[in-house]
Amino acid sequence: MNALSAEIHILDDDGSLDRFTVNMITSIAREAVAERGVFHLVLSGGGTPSPVYDLMSQPDYQERFPWSQTHVYWGDERNVPAEDPGSNYGQAHKLLLDKVPVQQLHIHRIKGELPPMEAAADYRWQLQELGMGERLWPIFDLVLLGMGDDGHTASLFPGKSNALEDTSAVISVQAEYEERPANRVTLTPLVLNDARIIIFLVKGGRKANTVASVLKTPEDKKRWPVQRIKPVAGRVLWLLDIAAAGRL
Ligand code: 6PG
Repeated sequence: MNALSAEIHILDDDGSLDRFTVNMITSIAREAVAERGVFHLVLSGGGTPSPVYDLMSQPDYQERFPWSQTHVYWGDERNVPAEDPGSNYGQAHKLLLDKVPVQQLHIHRIKGELPPMEAAADYRWQLQELGMGERLWPIFDLVLLGMGDDGHTASLFPGKSNALEDTSAVISVQAEYEERPANRVTLTPLVLNDARIIIFLVKGGRKANTVASVLKTPEDKKRWPVQRIKPVAGRVLWLLDIAAAGRL
């Protein structure tokens, strides 16, 4: 990946970046519904998107959003029950999904309460059902992703690449990062790279060196798993705050 092939937007982290992100997600959603009647949205875990989820739940924003035509998925999940504070589904439910008119049947969560391999198999099956028999997964209109300072995205971690990533839509992974649950389930580049649009939302000076390495240095997909995300025909947008963009 290099800076030329990605669309980069840099904004202040005083609420401007969160508002910009919500407006971007909303206009992509409206366009998808106008063109195809449905919007397939993949949410990210991590702390960075929390204010975005909170904003999306606010009346002014939720009124403009086509919630009844939106299907929601996750790029990764930690193997914990939905009520656990470490659950990515739990976070999105609390901040957003519980407050907007999304249809319950359109919420497609990774079952973190199951043992990792079972949860991965269950999600592969769920995605296949939604691929309508013709495909092994639906085409996602928008995938929201974060990035760790080690260059991981979703639960694709450095030093943890796995041959199954090339053949399987969803895999289980074990990786230590901060104090977070180590057993995880993740979508693979196989599926993510089939998406129409990917947004990386990244904040904070702590990630500035990684952002610069990922966007400006020659590709090293083992070192920087985030570089494995290169949609075949889709767009990639990096939405950064000023601190995260500090070394570009
Ligand atoms: C997860 C994520 C992960 C996250 C990054 C960044 O489940 O942990 O989906 O890929 O996006 O670790 O996390 P922060 O936003 O908290 O820095």
